[in-house]
Amino acid sequence: MNCSIAIMAAGFGTRMKSKKPKVLHQISGFPMLYHIIKEAKKISNDIHVILYHQAQLVQDEMNKHFENIHFHIQDYDNFPGTGGAIMGISPKYEKVLVLNGDMPLLEAQDMQIFFDEDAPVVMSSFIANDATGYGRVIMDDSKNVAKIVEQKDANELELKVKSVNAGVYLFDTDFLNTNLSKLSNNNNQKEYYITDLISIANEQKLQVKAVEINEETFMGVNSKYHLAQAEELMQKRIKKRFMEAGVSMRLPETIYIESDVTIEGESILESGVSLLKGAKIINSHIKTNSVVEDSMLKNSSIGPMARVRPKSVLIDSHIGNFVEIKKSTLNGVKAGHLAYLGDSEIDTGTNIGCGTITCNYDGKAKYKTIIGKNVFVGSDTQLVAPVKVEDDVIIASGTTVTKDLKKGCLAITRAPLKIVDGFFYKFFGK
Ligand code: UD1
Ligand code: MG
Repeated sequence: MNCSIAIMAAGFGTRMKSKKPKVLHQISGFPMLYHIIKEAKKISNDIHVILYHQAQLVQDEMNKHFENIHFHIQDYDNFPGTGGAIMGISPKYEKVLVLNGDMPLLEAQDMQIFFDEDAPVVMSSFIANDATGYGRVIMDDSKNVAKIVEQKDANELELKVKSVNAGVYLFDTDFLNTNLSKLSNNNNQKEYYITDLISIANEQKLQVKAVEINEETFMGVNSKYHLAQAEELMQKRIKKRFMEAGVSMRLPETIYIESDVTIEGESILESGVSLLKGAKIINSHIKTNSVVEDSMLKNSSIGPMARVRPKSVLIDSHIGNFVEIKKSTLNGVKAGHLAYLGDSEIDTGTNIGCGTITCNYDGKAKYKTIIGKNVFVGSDTQLVAPVKVEDDVIIASGTTVTKDLKKGCLAITRAPLKIVDGFFYKFFGK
């Protein structure tokens, strides 16, 4: 679309009570600013992000995810406030949509409503249950928006107004270029307000249109309480989309799914499941309280209480309770209980007994364990990596494997078992 987008993200975020810049606080696995930039990029190829507070940190974080974002540092010392924020940006297109960096729930489709209006200034409002903190939208006699008055500048009558400014605007770029210099900081906060552009437009008899928006979608996150509320709303949205696409969820309110996770086919998620960092689930069953991070599961079942750590692939496999997998590929494998399989490749028909551990780390470096097809790994086996087990091997229970094992062999280590008759009674007495 031929529209530039400016995202204001220079504010201090004092109410977050955190050393971390407000817009870097995460919702569903990603910083708030990431979510809004991702949506903005669906609409425009000319995105301007206005920063000031810990600007470099925010910029570095966003550069990990996006290219071609114009970062602009606000002249905060001379021009603080939302009006000051958009001074000095140079939009490429005739219109500029102004968004806030702390609005993580806004999606591209919600921005469309602004483009349906044809006016030099379009602002957005909603009727607030609790108008505290918001700018009040003051109408004139013919129900046009006359001005926006900030809470800190409002008189008693204005404070009673329930219609509030959502903080998203669509401006003609020409209008901004002509009028930004007319803003003053003659108000109680000594700030340059973007909202004063509304009354400036009215003075010039330019049309100001207001669109009614959904309060939840345009929610601005100012505190950690808001952050948790926004998280809950985003989680509901993510889970609803998956369930509508055929994913089953038991007690969905107990499930956490990050926003870059994909789930396909007839997958089932039981209660308390966490799917993190781009996990990909295909036709799989994730049982209660299991965690999958940055891994792929296909036609597999895991848990309850299983943990699949990054860079793992499970295909046609089953892992049971208290099994931890890390950077491993399991293809047609069963590991029913209590095991740690790290840096390993395990092939079809292999059974991993209870208590099996790949000893992948010697305190300095990590090593690989490779296990072939149809291997029977007895309970309480330790595989000291680097080690390779060929097909059709039996490893007896309690064995410590320190050498490669050839196809078809049995491996067994046994410390001699000593039996002392009647020792119990000698020790404890009769
Ligand atoms: C602003 C609006 C208010 C509206 C509300 C909606 C003004 C003056 N007021 O108030 O009418 O109801 O949003 O949420 O605009 N920012 C900068 N530079 C600054 C100050 C702020 O980039 O100098 C950024 C912040 O990072 C934030 C956004 O602008 O993303 C809004 O700032 P904030 O301080 O939250 O404004 P509100 O007081 O909420
Ligand atoms: Mg705000």
